[in-house]
Amino acid sequence: MRSLLFVLSLICFASQTALSWKKEEFRSCDQTPFCKRARSRSPGACSLIASDVSIADGDLVAKLLPKIANQSDEEQIKPLVLSLSVYADGIVRLRIDEDHTLNPPKKRFRVPDVVVSEFDEKKIWLQKVATETIAGDAIPSSVIYVSDGYEAVVRHEPFEVFVREKSGDRRRVVSLNSHGLFDFEQLRKKAEGDNWEEKFRTHTDSRPYGSQSISFDVSFYDSSFVYGIPEHATSFALKPTKGPGVEESEPYRLFNLDVFEYDHESPFGLYGSIPFMVSHGKSGKTSGFFWLNAAEMQIDVLANGWDAESGIALPSSESRIDTLWMSEAGIVDTFFFVGPEPKDVVKQYASVTGTSAMPQLFATGYHQCRWNYKDEEDVAQVDSKFDEHDIPYDVLWLDIEHTDGKRYFTWDSALFPNPEEMQKKLAAKGRRMVTIVDPHIKRDDSYFLHKEATQMGYYVKDSSGKDFDGWCWPGSSSYIDMLSPEIREWWGGRFYYKNYVGSTPSLYIWNDMNEPSVFNGPEVTMPRDALHVGGVEHREVHNAYGYYFHMATSDGLVMREEGKDRPFVLSRAIFPGTQRYGAIWTGDNTAEWEHLRVSIPMLLTLGLTGITFSGADIGGFFGNPEPELLVRWYQVGAYYPFFRGHAHHDTKRREPWLFGERNTELMRDAIHTRYTLLPYFYTLFREANVTGVPVVRPLWMEFPQDEATFSNDEAFMVGNALLVQGVYTKGTTHASVYLPGKASWYDLRNEKTYVGGKTYKMDAPEESIPAFQRAGTIIPRKDRFRRSSSQMDNDPYTLVVALNSTQEADGELYIDDGKSFEFRRGSYIHRRFVFSNGVLTSTNLAPPQARLSSQCSIDRIILLGHTSGPKSALVEPLNQKAEIEMGPLRMGGLVASSGTKVLTIRKPGVRVDQDWTVKVL
Ligand code: NOJ
Repeated sequence: MRSLLFVLSLICFASQTALSWKKEEFRSCDQTPFCKRARSRSPGACSLIASDVSIADGDLVAKLLPKIANQSDEEQIKPLVLSLSVYADGIVRLRIDEDHTLNPPKKRFRVPDVVVSEFDEKKIWLQKVATETIAGDAIPSSVIYVSDGYEAVVRHEPFEVFVREKSGDRRRVVSLNSHGLFDFEQLRKKAEGDNWEEKFRTHTDSRPYGSQSISFDVSFYDSSFVYGIPEHATSFALKPTKGPGVEESEPYRLFNLDVFEYDHESPFGLYGSIPFMVSHGKSGKTSGFFWLNAAEMQIDVLANGWDAESGIALPSSESRIDTLWMSEAGIVDTFFFVGPEPKDVVKQYASVTGTSAMPQLFATGYHQCRWNYKDEEDVAQVDSKFDEHDIPYDVLWLDIEHTDGKRYFTWDSALFPNPEEMQKKLAAKGRRMVTIVDPHIKRDDSYFLHKEATQMGYYVKDSSGKDFDGWCWPGSSSYIDMLSPEIREWWGGRFYYKNYVGSTPSLYIWNDMNEPSVFNGPEVTMPRDALHVGGVEHREVHNAYGYYFHMATSDGLVMREEGKDRPFVLSRAIFPGTQRYGAIWTGDNTAEWEHLRVSIPMLLTLGLTGITFSGADIGGFFGNPEPELLVRWYQVGAYYPFFRGHAHHDTKRREPWLFGERNTELMRDAIHTRYTLLPYFYTLFREANVTGVPVVRPLWMEFPQDEATFSNDEAFMVGNALLVQGVYTKGTTHASVYLPGKASWYDLRNEKTYVGGKTYKMDAPEESIPAFQRAGTIIPRKDRFRRSSSQMDNDPYTLVVALNSTQEADGELYIDDGKSFEFRRGSYIHRRFVFSNGVLTSTNLAPPQARLSSQCSIDRIILLGHTSGPKSALVEPLNQKAEIEMGPLRMGGLVASSGTKVLTIRKPGVRVDQDWTVKVL
């Protein structure tokens, strides 16, 4: 019976993969009672008022009570507990929960392990609360200090919380409950006759604790657009989902799900959830709001005029964007970020949830994946073809078929009899391997992992307390309970070489299906009434399950090398904090032009919300890309922070050499472009690691005042220096490119200069997509072609100096050993290059104790936009002359090789780790 069911479920699953997205498999807001209830509430419905305000433990604390107690329903009128805390750099945290001293039926779930421990050190201990009567109010509001420029206000009646500027007209920044939509469904004891079950399709959710949802409105002031709240396949600037002029739309859903062939334009929630929204407006100011909650969330962006009937008039109503946040469970644990610059907001968010882990250098190169590379011979062939075709790559990936019957940590002994040898052969060329390890464990009594997990009681339980049993790739499966720190540690131990037989130090890990995906579960996931350690219901922790799995795997890789090797783990599910554990990708996209296009807003959104190490499957996972699409995808993908080609097993093979010599040449050139830029990417990853500022950024992050950039999501910045415009249409050889700001831009294909602030129709022949270097910047490159990133370790650098109108430029270069954690102990090089008054100067940016040396030299200095015609350069302190000649802008580049020559200082003979000057004579 079981196997029949399994076959049926697989047939059903396989047919899903062949068709497009099956909407009816998933709940709409109307089919989700808490969402439907919250969405139908009217502004002003909230009857709570804040009272009993005081200071306790450095926080403002208060009670939230109904204004008029409803005596007939005592259960509903328990006061809620509010606390408001302030942190350095303009962060306000608002928490609202039930009062535990009043014995609610259960403690509501507070998400642990997301807020970094250092965040506590930023707390500003409040000493006093000021009062102020807002015009028209019967009772005064409480006002607290946030920073020199900002203060927070708790308005008592009607209840509202907002942050505002202190000076001028005391402009509001972000507010909560300004429209009185706050609602907190308190836990109740079940009375006789209560039926709390919810049904969806064939599934019944027992909901033993009944309704416990929370909803509220959040307003962003001075706002032209809001962004963020991944993961959705939609535009970067979020479109309104409700209100005048909006056709019937679902709210943006945040519920981690395994969605096959997702639509390229939909507010439907995909594999991950980051409830962090960013607003940006004409004033150039940015603010943010984050709700730490792991239950299902739905968010409406409300169209202008949605509240026309409400009679609620807000100050500074102009350019305000209102939003409605709804969650099934959890508590209110929210953060307001004041900005005011775009980079301030991402830094503020990063100070709460952490910055991005520093990847190993190899992980920033090209990854070759397919479901599946069949056997060791296939692996060897693919590997050697890369060399034969002179295409660099760093990592070869093995999908689920490499295992013995989808038992992770095992190998199919017929197909992969010598896994260690296979990895060693790759490692000899400086290449790595990645294998897949999913969270569903085959329920097979002879499988060591299942035996141990069962004996130890390490599985998630179903609502009756038995080990949860669901269908996934291996058939009947159970799921490790990753919420428990003890179980996570045990899981981490599975990666010791002695436990993962056949693994070697060059093997890294891919965590897939960790939403978690359960083929026969409601909405292809785990039932909400399944139970985790401590009696936590799955509904409360759902969106964080994959995060804990990713964390445990990543920590396991650190353990196996005793903390000496940086982990690399790719995850599909995401949650705030994921950035600390590894890379992510956007799941099962399709080989269509629109999927190529939407990859950019998706990656921009992920970067803005902390997860910068992200990429989309190059070529599209489902379907067979025509060669032109594949080539364009490689050209755009070469700038994705995470750069991996991947394909479904039903698709035709599509390694870069399979489409004729010309297409191979084009894809090779795209991959080479990425490899030449690795020093720049690595420097940007370090910036992300220190500050939280993403590698790939929206244009407005660099040009906050330039309105023309606010909704542009077809072009993107790589760091502050490079602007890339993708080509997303078949048969196009032109692209319309907006170049922002006042400075000029250099076309990296031919050195042509364009002034900023205009849209240009650019040539985009098949050789490349438009890419520009911003005047006033310096980009470090390595131009020699090698097999993989590690083969480039000792190669010399090229500096591309793009001069601005005052003949100045600057840039940075970060170098470390590319693999260990020694950089944390100061083992790194960080240089600043400044060109000014005809002199290029290299100075140290690292603290004095930083100590790493490098024999690498600077081989070429390319000067773009130099106005005089210098003949030579003087290098100090060597006191040597270097030749200046015309040279290629890019070695071997398809466009550059057709003739563009630029001013080049050849072999200045300086080392990358030292102070020097090169003076143009
Ligand atoms: C689903 C993943 O999204 C896809 O990338 C992978 O190839 C398959 N699972 C098989 O593991």
